[in-house]
Amino acid sequence: MAPIDSPRPGRRAAVIAGLRTPFVKAGTDFRDLSAIDLGALVVNELVARSGLPPSTFDSVIFGQVVPSKLVTLIGREMVLRSQLPRSVEAYTVARACATSLQAATSAADQVALGHSDCAIAGGAESISDAPIFASRRLAQKLVELSKARTLAQRLSVISSLKLADLRPEPPALVEPTTGLSMGQSAEQMAQKNGITRLAQDQLSVLSHQRAAAAWAAGKFDAEVMHVAVPPRFDRTSARDNIVRADTTLEALSALRPVFDRKYGTITAGNASPLTDGAAALIVMSEEKARALGLTPLGYIRAYAYAGLDPRDQLLQGPAYAAPIALDRAGLTLQDMDLVDMHEAFAAQVLSNLQAFASRTFAEKQLGRPAPLGEIDPARLNVNGGSIALGHPFGATGARMITQTLRELRRRQKQFALLTICAAGALGAAVVLERE
Ligand SMILES: CC(C)(COP(=O)(O)OP(=O)(O)OC[C@H]1O[C@@H](n2cnc3c(N)ncnc32)[C@H](O)[C@@H]1OP(=O)(O)O)[C@@H](O)C(=O)NCCC(=O)NCCS
Repeated sequence: MAPIDSPRPGRRAAVIAGLRTPFVKAGTDFRDLSAIDLGALVVNELVARSGLPPSTFDSVIFGQVVPSKLVTLIGREMVLRSQLPRSVEAYTVARACATSLQAATSAADQVALGHSDCAIAGGAESISDAPIFASRRLAQKLVELSKARTLAQRLSVISSLKLADLRPEPPALVEPTTGLSMGQSAEQMAQKNGITRLAQDQLSVLSHQRAAAAWAAGKFDAEVMHVAVPPRFDRTSARDNIVRADTTLEALSALRPVFDRKYGTITAGNASPLTDGAAALIVMSEEKARALGLTPLGYIRAYAYAGLDPRDQLLQGPAYAAPIALDRAGLTLQDMDLVDMHEAFAAQVLSNLQAFASRTFAEKQLGRPAPLGEIDPARLNVNGGSIALGHPFGATGARMITQTLRELRRRQKQFALLTICAAGALGAAVVLERE
């Protein structure tokens, strides 16, 4: 292996360990748990399994995308609902689907600056517990009602309500700038880039086959905790329940498009499903790890976030962020032993791979003389991705870091690139290294 020559200023941030809950389809095993419950489960278990005294930890950085009702600071709740000392400082981060990558890179920055020696970074999501909002008019009327002094005033407010005002408003996965859902935006990308339904379904089959094979080989056993399922706690959720070992191209090609029913190509089979779950990492300074005699899983070598116009290709952020992260790492795509690209939709992965390899994209969009290059399929999402494993928005980044570093170790390899596309037309990329 090449000698490590860290390009990042400051101290090197080591990932000591990572853990996640099983990722389960929303409304199934975790339907009675909130994101905070799921986060607390994984943080407690991660700290316990580390064998480190809770006093080792000095900070928690945690995130979720869909907010929990009435709890705004999931980061601090992770401290208050765990065995960590109350003196551990904490904050919450949000970067849509890249939220727990943000938690990890923020922790790495705190370590680099010398502000933190040992942090927990992660995220959680419960789509099962998504808040349902009252309509704006109902909310206004409820405020008026609370101010009404007489029965007549109260009746007047109540009688001014229309039936339509009572309709609940679920949170929408809609991009405010365009009014399009993530699925509709991915559908547009498929059309613009000529991504066929067949190519999407082929990628999805591979995701399921590889995830199922990884489970069968025991690769995930040490990175996925077991969760007793409430309310009866009489059974355990021990594995992801979205992976289907028996997924076939024939079964996928029979599914009907969801976001454009007439001409579309995106189905429940080639999109990431709505998922509940949580994931967390221990991020420590290299010196502290050495002093404690710990062998890190690996290091965060470099990262980058990038934005583009949401009216362009909403989920193409990885193609913008990856070149910057690789430049910052002092490495090229060809140096990467593994690439893990978050699979929001197969169409989004294929569009990004196309952009990675396109000279026109490099010249016109990035102002670079040459494209990053093609990714060898044998190095890409080798243990499956979010289509098969599920995508609890706030937890996916931390899941990817643990999964990829453990695979690098298994293969005795050195470098990996992770990418995530996120709402708001953001892209995230992280370069990981082992020594
Ligand atoms: C696409 C989406 C609408 C589908 O939701 P859903 O209809 O609840 O999906 P289901 O799991 O019920 O699957 C629908 C059908 O496809 C089938 N299916 C799904 N995956 C399959 C697979 N791998 N193999 C075979 N069949 C599959 C299901 O069995 C089901 O069949 P049925 O209707 O006969 O029961 C939902 O997952 C979604 O919104 N995903 C996108 C989330 C998103 O936007 N994320 C943001 C990314 S950044």
